[in-house]
Amino acid sequence: MNILFAASEMSPYAKTGGLGDVLAALPAALRARGHSVSVVLPLYRGVREKLPNLKPSSLFLNLTLNREQLSARVWEGVSESGVHLFFIERDEFYDRSHLYGTQTGDYADNAARFIFFNKAVVELARYIQPTPEILHLHDWQTGLVPAIVRSKQYALKTIFTIHNLAFQGSFWAFDFDLTNLPGEYFSPPGVEFFGRLNLMKAALLLSHQITTVSPSYAQEIQTPAYGCSLDGVLRQNHHKLTGILNGVDCDLWDPQHDHFLAAPYSAEQLKGKAENKKALLNSFHLPSGNSPLFGMVSRLTTQKGFDLIQQTIEDSLLNIGAKFVLLGSGDPYFEAYFTNLAKKYPKQVGVKIGFDEGLAHLIEAGSDFFLMPSQFEPCGLNQLYSLRYGTPPIVHNTGGLADSVEDYNEDTGTGTGFKFSWYEAGGLRQAIQRALKVYAQPKALATLRHSGMTQSFSWDASAAEYEKVYTAALKS
Ligand code: ADP
Ligand code: GLC
Repeated sequence: MNILFAASEMSPYAKTGGLGDVLAALPAALRARGHSVSVVLPLYRGVREKLPNLKPSSLFLNLTLNREQLSARVWEGVSESGVHLFFIERDEFYDRSHLYGTQTGDYADNAARFIFFNKAVVELARYIQPTPEILHLHDWQTGLVPAIVRSKQYALKTIFTIHNLAFQGSFWAFDFDLTNLPGEYFSPPGVEFFGRLNLMKAALLLSHQITTVSPSYAQEIQTPAYGCSLDGVLRQNHHKLTGILNGVDCDLWDPQHDHFLAAPYSAEQLKGKAENKKALLNSFHLPSGNSPLFGMVSRLTTQKGFDLIQQTIEDSLLNIGAKFVLLGSGDPYFEAYFTNLAKKYPKQVGVKIGFDEGLAHLIEAGSDFFLMPSQFEPCGLNQLYSLRYGTPPIVHNTGGLADSVEDYNEDTGTGTGFKFSWYEAGGLRQAIQRALKVYAQPKALATLRHSGMTQSFSWDASAAEYEKVYTAALKS
């Protein structure tokens, strides 16, 4: 099949979270299965430095944005895994310090920035060879593409993947003019949602197939509790909705060959893990010792369960002498809270506010347990990485966390981590206590680690599931 992916992130060129990891791995996995795959992204600041083989092509796309005629140059390159890459250059939109906005909020012209990108994607698909038959779109930043394709009656099939329903690309009604779609599209069967332009809703309705990143999340989003007000639209379209769990890029996340680690280790030879714990504590200037170490790597948002962490961390962890390290950035409230916590417990808490690829790997490897009590989690990649690194995750039983972690059973010694069902402090507290109990039994802990490390979350298996969705789209 000929597939063009369009997205707003792809690691290592542009990444704020798991979307970037998926774009780095899934196109490559499909390519390895014999498909012709390329990816198109905005040409953000810094991409040129990260991709030395990137070259300007002779292709310019001439696009209409409301009443303006704007052109965009297409740049081309090849990723490390051999996937062909296209970048859309329009500096006034993409040459900025961040992808979506700064700490003070989203960029005010995000509607124009991404609607322009969507138009470029559709035009590009008509020029490149071999001509793509499938356009695989990701999250609201590409949500207008199905509407454009349908309005122009192009033969392309569109697959839309929801990575996070909470971000919908909801804009003022007057931004509809930027789409240049026929007026009737601003209606309930089109791109309108409660009087606004909603790109996520437009994609759910107008794409040929919808996927999301875990089977459980695919069910949850059809309920009012998780549907972010789009549950009705999803129920209506459940016949074209599939949940496919993300995988792990085993070249990047392999404790035996990870250059960010202090020592390599494996499921069979765990010795190096202790050295990573030492190195991790050292990097946060925390004293080493035998007390259990809990780690987190996360965007600092309420989605990730920080309200529960706040309610439990002192009584469940710090008061009993355990240690805690956190790498993350985001909500200024949580940044301040954790910075203060580190000041209050200088020998037990290490906090780094920022984005740091290497430290993320070291936390996965050096911690004893990985905390991920997310309120909701479409898939979650960090718990997959922690399983692979022998760091049992402690998770809320939701979305991809529910689908990838098996609760530890102390009678049988089976399971890979610790789950709690009700999203409340008591649930997390209990899960932490169960983890601490296992920490005190080295044999049980070793078995638990081994079970996690030998799980398989292969991208090849996910790619095979996507093939089925593409086939269904081609038949529709
Ligand atoms: P989400 O996409 O919701 O943020 P995921 O667990 O799917 O959550 O993916 C997060 C990805 O971003 C992982 O690769 C994780 O290591 C990375 N990440 C998140 N925050 C940071 C950070 N501060 N520094 C480095 N990597 C980070
Ligand atoms: C989103 C979700 C996360 C998922 C990632 C990649 O950012 O929050 O759960 O793992 O996308 O699909």
